[in-house]
Amino acid sequence: MTSTHEQWDIVSGVGMTALAVAAARAIESHRDDRLINDPYAEGLVAAARSPALAEMENSSAEMLETMSGYLGVRTRFFDEYFLRAAAGGVQQAVILASGLDTRAFRLNWPEGLRVFEIDQPKVLQFKDETLDRIGAQPGSDRRVVPVDLRDDWASALDTAGFDASLPTAWLAEGLLPYLPAEAEAQLLATIDRFSAPGSRISIEHMTGPREEYVSDELRNLALEWGMDLQALFSTDERPDPGEVLAGRGWNVRREPTNEITAGYGRALPGLGERFAELGCMITAFREK
Ligand SMILES: C[S@@+](CC[C@H](N)C(=O)[O-])C[C@H]1O[C@@H](n2cnc3c(N)ncnc32)[C@H](O)[C@@H]1O
Repeated sequence: MTSTHEQWDIVSGVGMTALAVAAARAIESHRDDRLINDPYAEGLVAAARSPALAEMENSSAEMLETMSGYLGVRTRFFDEYFLRAAAGGVQQAVILASGLDTRAFRLNWPEGLRVFEIDQPKVLQFKDETLDRIGAQPGSDRRVVPVDLRDDWASALDTAGFDASLPTAWLAEGLLPYLPAEAEAQLLATIDRFSAPGSRISIEHMTGPREEYVSDELRNLALEWGMDLQALFSTDERPDPGEVLAGRGWNVRREPTNEITAGYGRALPGLGERFAELGCMITAFREK
């Protein structure tokens, strides 16, 4: 499928945010009090050879530590979500905007469970080539779906072997802030259409006006790292995704991120605390 939208790779545009998240996971994996272990994150970051990222590591080690504190919580929460979903009988997982997420490789999936990863082509190509070189072996039936989520991604997912009659666990982690309102509405409508009874979705959600997530501190720092977060985040007005799903008959649960963080026994200073205060994780279930 040829996209009319702009393309990015792992060191440009919003692709760079996936690299920054992988760097945070690498840091988290080395903490004494780590909440997750991603053994591939460091290799992925090294392979990208991004001067902006090297700059980030040198100039803002403390800041990266803070952000990794938040991202460690987020990663752990969604790891547990997937493991519970798999134990509860879902047969497919779809990671929307997977970036450098390595769950298909590092989680203990039931035999044969299909994990679909959707992201832009160059992001997935970089990830596949790097993980191949490292010798990583997926612990699932992993399928990549290189497509833009503003295009007809449903057809691409179908072609990759998705079976809409099977219960599915969907994930939108670090995605919705970047999507225009129309693409988000399409995304939720497609998920609703493709979700058999027993399906579920988990979403990282920021409450309040979008402009407020990007404090001056975060904005300036991200700019130093080559990411213009203000330009990357969509400020379109849109309905709350939990309410959209509830309106379509899903059972919706919201967990404030600061409560999740406290539950893991972690304190998040500075910006991490701000993200946890503004955020919640929405998990929705389709019973029938
Ligand atoms: C902050 S990263 C999060 C990556 C991953 N979910 C994680 O937590 O590690 C944002 C990701 O969204 C992807 N993305 C943003 N807009 C997209 C779109 N329209 N189509 C496909 N991928 C998109 C980017 O390529 C990038 O990998």
